Amino acid sequence: HQKLDSFPSDFLWGSASAAYQVEGAWDEDGKGESVWDKFVKIPGKTFKGTTGEVAVDHYHRYKEDVQLMAEQGLKAYRFSISWPRIIPDGNGEVNEAGIKFYEDLIDELLANEIEPVVTLYHWDLPQALQDEYLGWEGRQIINDFTRYCEIVFKRFKDKVKYWVTLNEQNVFISHGYLAASHPPNVKDPKRMLQANHHANLANAKAIKLFHELDIEGQIGPSFAYGPTYAFDADPKNQLAAENREEINANFWMDIYVYGRYPKVAWKYFEDNGIAPTIEVGDFDLLKEGKPDFLGLNYYQTATVKENRLDGVGAGKPNYTGEKGSTEESGMPGLYKEVSNPYVEYTNWDWAIDPSGLRIAMRRMTSRYDLPILITENGLGEYDRLEADGRIHDEYRINYIRDHIVAIQEAITDGVEVIGYCTWSYTDLLSWLNGYQKRYGFVYVDRDESNEKELKRYKKDSYFWYKKVIETNGQEL
Ligand code: BG6
Repeated sequence: HQKLDSFPSDFLWGSASAAYQVEGAWDEDGKGESVWDKFVKIPGKTFKGTTGEVAVDHYHRYKEDVQLMAEQGLKAYRFSISWPRIIPDGNGEVNEAGIKFYEDLIDELLANEIEPVVTLYHWDLPQALQDEYLGWEGRQIINDFTRYCEIVFKRFKDKVKYWVTLNEQNVFISHGYLAASHPPNVKDPKRMLQANHHANLANAKAIKLFHELDIEGQIGPSFAYGPTYAFDADPKNQLAAENREEINANFWMDIYVYGRYPKVAWKYFEDNGIAPTIEVGDFDLLKEGKPDFLGLNYYQTATVKENRLDGVGAGKPNYTGEKGSTEESGMPGLYKEVSNPYVEYTNWDWAIDPSGLRIAMRRMTSRYDLPILITENGLGEYDRLEADGRIHDEYRINYIRDHIVAIQEAITDGVEVIGYCTWSYTDLLSWLNGYQKRYGFVYVDRDESNEKELKRYKKDSYFWYKKVIETNGQEL
């Protein structure tokens, strides 16, 4: 066995959540409607029609939740701010009650020595902007997003040091505009790439502004990176892996760091008539908005084979960022995803692959050379609440332990890592899978049909992670 480096002494042992998935209070205290508030009401879109209207009621129970974090010794808590809570119609009046909720939450965290990590956008766009100019498809989103960020930066700059701009742009854009499994429920690759270009510009402009304001802190986007493996040494499958890596990873991350689209991906989109329209000055702005770190959300790897254009052996079309299926699927002519015989899969068919995290971190370091903040990693599973109030989630402990070892290996390899946020802190709404797919250290007693009392219970993993934090990762 290789001797592993220790975790840095200021390593942020954290956990994460997102506004729509935990807060509830969807229309309280002046909050505006978000695209998710509306989308979940479309029949058939979510598991049993579940919504986040109440979620796990974090809005009213944040103090109790922060107490649980404090008792566990958590060093960092990543949460997102809901844009329509701050600016109900997206670009008009500021809602002071919304600001106050986050200010109270941040103060509560700081009083308990927990570092707040704030995500500015975790998918709950103000519906008013979708109605006004099609949300991310309108160029006006660039200024409106930046204005929203400026308001939040100025209010919280003395309290918050770590900022995440966009959460998983690759997921919300591809699911929203290609798979139609997220709002705005569109299936159109050209519109997808135009919305994506605007998201890149909004991200860059917010980062540029953050740096201009000279805020003491760091900012970057969080990317959902699932590295690609070729199924075998067949050169055709190796090329397929290159294709997926270019379209699914380089295309999204190069623009963040270098302000340019990689040539092979760009040529492919141009040849297919779906490349976005670029305006004069766009690439200058993109280059000026370089992040301080890259946020990494890691869940799994993908394994691919060639996918012939003539359709022989082709899987069902499934583009960028779609995840979680052992069913063969992919992009015709480029690759198709297949099951990996060397790894196990969760009950939702996600590959369990800790080495993939080490590989992701190394590839990102080689290509971008920026510090990495792991902003999400975790296991979604069914949990059972026992009669004595315990939840024996040793499968989650095993999953997280193996991934922490992979991080330590990556550190030993030379990767710079700021911290590790598990997904998630409490159980929460899994966007499309209701409440039965649980990720938390803290069990929340509710299901799709019954909110019950939303009581919190500590899972076995809660106590285990407490020890990990106490020993700075030495006792796993
Ligand atoms: C990430 C998101 O895609 O994965 C989270 O940032 C999400 O918001 C998590 O909950 C797990 O995905 P799912 O589909 O299992 O809820």
